[in-house]
Amino acid sequence: MKSKAEKYIEQNRVDRKNRPAFHVTAPVGWINDPNGFSVYQGQIHLFYQYHPFSTEWGPMHWGHCISYDMMKWEDLPVALAPDQEYDKLGCFSGSAIETKDGHLLVYTGVSEDINTKQEVQNQCFAIGDGIQYEKIKENPVVTGEMLPKGFDQKDFRDPKIWKEDDTFYLVAGNKDQQKYGQIVLFSSKNLQEWKYESVLVNSGGRIGIMWECPDFFALGDERILICSPQNMKARGYDIHNGHNSVYFTGEYNKEKHVFKHRKLQSLDYGFDFYAPQTTELPDGRRILIGWMQSWDNQAIPEDQKWQGMMTVPRELTLVNDELIQNPIKEVKKYYSNRVAYENKCISKPCMLEGIKGRILDMTIELQKGDFQYFRVELAHNEEYTTTFTYDAITEMIEADRTFSGICKDIVCQRKMKIIHPKDKLELRFILDRWSIELFVNGGEQVFSTAIYTEMEADQIVFSSDGNAVINVEKHDIKMEE
Ligand code: FRU
Repeated sequence: MKSKAEKYIEQNRVDRKNRPAFHVTAPVGWINDPNGFSVYQGQIHLFYQYHPFSTEWGPMHWGHCISYDMMKWEDLPVALAPDQEYDKLGCFSGSAIETKDGHLLVYTGVSEDINTKQEVQNQCFAIGDGIQYEKIKENPVVTGEMLPKGFDQKDFRDPKIWKEDDTFYLVAGNKDQQKYGQIVLFSSKNLQEWKYESVLVNSGGRIGIMWECPDFFALGDERILICSPQNMKARGYDIHNGHNSVYFTGEYNKEKHVFKHRKLQSLDYGFDFYAPQTTELPDGRRILIGWMQSWDNQAIPEDQKWQGMMTVPRELTLVNDELIQNPIKEVKKYYSNRVAYENKCISKPCMLEGIKGRILDMTIELQKGDFQYFRVELAHNEEYTTTFTYDAITEMIEADRTFSGICKDIVCQRKMKIIHPKDKLELRFILDRWSIELFVNGGEQVFSTAIYTEMEADQIVFSSDGNAVINVEKHDIKMEE
């Protein structure tokens, strides 16, 4: 099965120039969630949910790539294919950890109960050397039967593994007797015998349905739980993706395995963000990477042979109980062609000499002043544009990708309320061919979106309805391809 995928990939590999320059994509075909984000023997590994044979979701494999700096990624052979009885319906999401015996992948094997013909999900292991992986003969290792009576064995997936002191832990998404989404915790001393410990958080039926792709980690003295609840209702200007990714901060009692969480918060306000996963680097940074795509909004052109990409990796910090997310500092290694302006007054639509492109990092500082609307148009030409409009009265940013080249009936406009307005608004845009990620006010909020615009549209247009004064600094991001 793996070799069938490899053969197909070799014959259909998309030229690097027709993929994003530094965002992870598959060589060809469909990807969704990031998986197995981990460091093994000093290299950073990222796996992903993968269906190489088409640009649609299908029987899930694990694609694989490696990097030293999370900017330059090298494609590696497919790590897992659904080729065993216990995972014949798919190798679903999971995680990875460095162990004394090698690089351990922990994933959800989806199969069918022989008696009931119902789908079942169990957690399975594969071990490898960083390139080739073998599933272990004891699979499945953490099974639905180990859950308390009544917990759902069909929706039991996306294990995230970590080690603390001398114990391994694993969290997974699940549903309780009432079909409420929840995150369950297991522990093991030796990776072979696992014990169910507790429910870390239960939705009480108020936060979506199934809770997918959990991650649970320490940031300073705090604990963070990230998860992706399906089918959530929008709340104000928050949680607009149906399937959303959220986090809780809180206190964790390690001995009792109880997590006392505080309020739910959003990880991203854009059109395209789901199923993020984090890892800790040897230098102590906690890095998050998400799938920059929405389950319900996909609009690649007919002739595009890849679908789905990851976000730029983001460094996480915690300030006043809120996650701050910023692009990894390694982005700066690839800066070239700096162009900057100070105290530039913007009124009628205008372009600034030297400020354009589709692979770049641009920061705008906007002072409070004599205007209501300030607008930036990206990936712009006579035919295309994607706009971000700031309304100084409502403290709202409205994104509009209606004219970004989309030929489908998908969501194109969305508003984001600035949660902590300041005298100076900072807007940092990262563009990489088919995506725009906006980091607001030093990473207090992020808005990630895919665009579908031809590469010729590379202008950036600024405008306001009064006199807006900005500082702007742009760097191209130059990768060798
Ligand atoms: C999240 C998800 C996971 C599952 C995977 C299947 O996007 O639904 O829960 O493991 O995708 O591809």
